[in-house]
Amino acid sequence: MDILQQISASLSETGIPDLTISSISLDELDLIRDMNRLLFNEDRIINSFDRKDLVLLIARFEGMPAGFKVGYRENRFVFYSAKGGVLPDFRRRGIARFLMYAMMDRARELGYSRFAFDTFPNLHPGMTVLAVTEGFRLIKSDYNTAYREYRLRFEKKLQIA
Ligand SMILES: CC(C)(COP(=O)(O)OP(=O)(O)OC[C@H]1O[C@@H](n2cnc3c(N)ncnc32)[C@H](O)[C@@H]1OP(=O)(O)O)[C@@H](O)C(=O)NCCC(=O)NCCS
Repeated sequence: MDILQQISASLSETGIPDLTISSISLDELDLIRDMNRLLFNEDRIINSFDRKDLVLLIARFEGMPAGFKVGYRENRFVFYSAKGGVLPDFRRRGIARFLMYAMMDRARELGYSRFAFDTFPNLHPGMTVLAVTEGFRLIKSDYNTAYREYRLRFEKKLQIA
């Protein structure tokens, strides 16, 4: 059983039996593209998919696409979660949390020791709350001129099992 099968199996024991999280290939990117448009109102998902250790995760709730998460190598220590979200109809069921757990497991499996992401707390406050409740540390804050918004960077050590 690979790590994502294990996660899907363990999800059925956590009270979200209808949730599956799977890894997809670039050939199936349209699934993410559609959700990205609905969530962020833009066609761009990330600037480039030409990334080492690219990980594309899809969450399905009762078989329907409900959310996604995209991440890749930032440097030899840090795995970077670049973008993700959960469709409005499926929120507050723990899907973002389990997408994060699945990506952290994958990053750990790939040999990374830290997991990081950036977020805009005024635009998407939920990710900041999730970061704090999951024990992430705030390691940087700045003003992003492209988005004209304040941006936070959160990071967490990946415990070796
Ligand atoms: C932020 C987002 C990913 C959360 O998805 P979700 O599946 O609803 O999140 P979860 O159900 O896993 O939430 C886990 C915890 O995060 C926190 N949280 C999530 N959404 C929240 C919100 N809108 N406000 C406050 N806290 C929130 C809560 O602590 C929640 O636990 P609880 O429901 O037991 O209180 C989703 O709202 C979303 O896609 N938003 C728009 C896009 C976005 O923000 N993407 C991330 C950019 S960095």
